[in-house]
Amino acid sequence: MLSHLLHLAGISSTVLEARSRAYCEARVRAGVLEHTSVELLRCAGLGGRLDREGLRHDGIELGLDGERHRIPFHELTGKHVTVYGQQEVVKDLIARRLADGADLRFECGAVSLQDLDGSRPWMRVQHDGGADEIRCDYIAGCDGFHGISRAAIPAGVLTIHERIYPLAWLGILAEAAPTRAELLYMHHRRGFALYSMRSPRITRLYLQCRPGEDIAEWSDDRIWTELQARLSCTDGWRPTEGRILQKGITGMRSFVAEPLQWGRLLLAGDAAHIVPPAGAKGMNLALADVHYLAEALRRFYHGGDGEGLKRYSPACLRRVWKAQHFAWWMTSLLHRFEAAPAFDQKRQRAELEYVMSSRPAATALAENYVGLPLEAL
Ligand code: PHB
Repeated sequence: MLSHLLHLAGISSTVLEARSRAYCEARVRAGVLEHTSVELLRCAGLGGRLDREGLRHDGIELGLDGERHRIPFHELTGKHVTVYGQQEVVKDLIARRLADGADLRFECGAVSLQDLDGSRPWMRVQHDGGADEIRCDYIAGCDGFHGISRAAIPAGVLTIHERIYPLAWLGILAEAAPTRAELLYMHHRRGFALYSMRSPRITRLYLQCRPGEDIAEWSDDRIWTELQARLSCTDGWRPTEGRILQKGITGMRSFVAEPLQWGRLLLAGDAAHIVPPAGAKGMNLALADVHYLAEALRRFYHGGDGEGLKRYSPACLRRVWKAQHFAWWMTSLLHRFEAAPAFDQKRQRAELEYVMSSRPAATALAENYVGLPLEAL
């Protein structure tokens, strides 16, 4: 996305990707685009397939032990979200970048970053059995939580804020037509469960489990039994089962590295911050980061003005911390914390009942879920 936005501003870039194109296009990740993200993609000329195939959701449902309550986003905020898989966004971007003649290199080997604190940083890249050296003005570290960029910053520069939760999600992709129009986030005494979807034929479902659990211990039968137990509703609705196409377990953390810049290296997305998935913010934060970064670089090249680059990290962090708060809050509200004292379990239930019954409380959830507005850089 950054490379595409830079291209629109007449700025050239090289994209180094460790994986193959097929891997990037098949890897199942997040699925909810904020109103703000859809606007960014549309404004960048990437709204075509998204507008045709994305599923518009005007709200979500919260569930408490089998009883559902709708949070009507559109009625409360005038905005909606769009369900469109991250890998679909990635497919659209790769196709568009290649059509525009981008220097997009897949299956790169080891990359090392050099002279990041000078005026002319460079990278050494193992590729096709040889090594290339690439010189540039800036390096954007968009390489995820386990990437090399953040690790290339000397110790003592970054302040790390981290919270690890005693929770994980077991996620499956099932060949089953969704039978609810909107996502259902269920708080249940057996643990949290989420009913989501990817298309009119594919359901995406999640179960709270313990971090470090082995997916081999979760047979398809066990997964469906648990999903039925947690998601079945008192009005008789239950999830439709289907062939499980993919399954995996992901641990949960909140993480922020500050600032997002060191010298000529600028971090964006998961390289700088991780949110737990209950707020559906990960992909959206990454898109907002690169929007700010492209704008900062556009001002640098076209206005000769480094001010935008100075504001990049603070502008991202203001948004990141609001999303951190929201993702932490949704996580705390919806999961079952088995080790929590009875007081906290009662308090959590009361909070959920409050959100389900108060319009101002539901509006606060809705406003954050559909995405807070972007600020001017
Ligand atoms: C998903 O469909 O993958 C999804 C939806 C909502 C979330 C997290 C994941 O909060």
